[in-house]
Amino acid sequence: MVTGVEKSQSATKKAVERQRQAQLGQFFTPPAIAQFMASLFTPGSTDCCRLLDAGAGGGSLSAAFLDRWVSGSFNFQRVELDAFEVDQTLHKALAQTLAAYQQHPDFAPTIRPDDFIHTAADWLSGNLFATALPQYTHAILNPPYKKIRSDSPHRLALRQAGVETVNLYSAFVALAVALLGNGGQLVAIIPRSFCNGPYYRPFRDWVLGQAAIRHIHLFESRTQAFKHDAVLQENIIIQLERGGSPGPVTVSTSTDDTFADLVTHQYPFNQIVLPGDSERFIHVPTSPDFETVIT
Ligand SMILES: C[S@@+](CC[C@H](N)C(=O)[O-])C[C@H]1O[C@@H](n2cnc3c(N)ncnc32)[C@H](O)[C@@H]1O
Repeated sequence: MVTGVEKSQSATKKAVERQRQAQLGQFFTPPAIAQFMASLFTPGSTDCCRLLDAGAGGGSLSAAFLDRWVSGSFNFQRVELDAFEVDQTLHKALAQTLAAYQQHPDFAPTIRPDDFIHTAADWLSGNLFATALPQYTHAILNPPYKKIRSDSPHRLALRQAGVETVNLYSAFVALAVALLGNGGQLVAIIPRSFCNGPYYRPFRDWVLGQAAIRHIHLFESRTQAFKHDAVLQENIIIQLERGGSPGPVTVSTSTDDTFADLVTHQYPFNQIVLPGDSERFIHVPTSPDFETVIT
């Protein structure tokens, strides 16, 4: 049977042939990665899930999350989804993806055509005319990747919300974390550069101040034979818990997005962010006796 996330992938591919992919930082999540990301959320006792998908594209991440919900492995009665997507040419594919779940009476999706940075930053900075946003319980993200110029409207809006950062991807994650209620969970696939890039120090401070890292996944091919694998290896998947106390971090690795050789270990937080490290580098150990500092 074709899952919602697979249908979403093919509808999105059709829509993006004419897209300004580079301009909007559009890289769409393959179904297997979307399913893996959705599998990382810890089921809780919440009755109503308020899900944020910021930069939703054709909705493959929401679809993977909703596939997991309809298959019965979450306990929510109801899911309210906010899918932000600024590129209107993707709205048809996104609406088609979400329509597959609309027979569920307790599914309430909203496609928001707004710029996520401006909407979230306006709301968080207390702007009187801002669109009100809920406190989300879950966020699933594959944000756009693009430098933010220091004199751009995005940078100004972010600064007003107290976020200093240099790329759209870190801005999306910082704002999504801030929009989560206490105990809310975020799973994102993002470039690994934030782990130790000097420009990402304020972002690391922000994230580590507001959330606990629960899981990190690395794609780790020994051969780097395929271009696709090289692209995967520039990214990590991270799970954060808003307001959580730092505790053991699960680190998993797989060669590629088949996840066939998935290996999982747990590490104390003080091996991930070393106590007293003023740069707050995020170290990702890849086997119990071998530690990699991400470059
Ligand atoms: C990397 S793609 C990921 C799409 C989808 N989440 C997925 O995983 O396949 C990022 C998406 O964010 C959208 N986007 C870029 N800037 C945005 C903004 N400021 N506000 C809302 N969406 C934005 C792009 O059009 C693109 O569809």
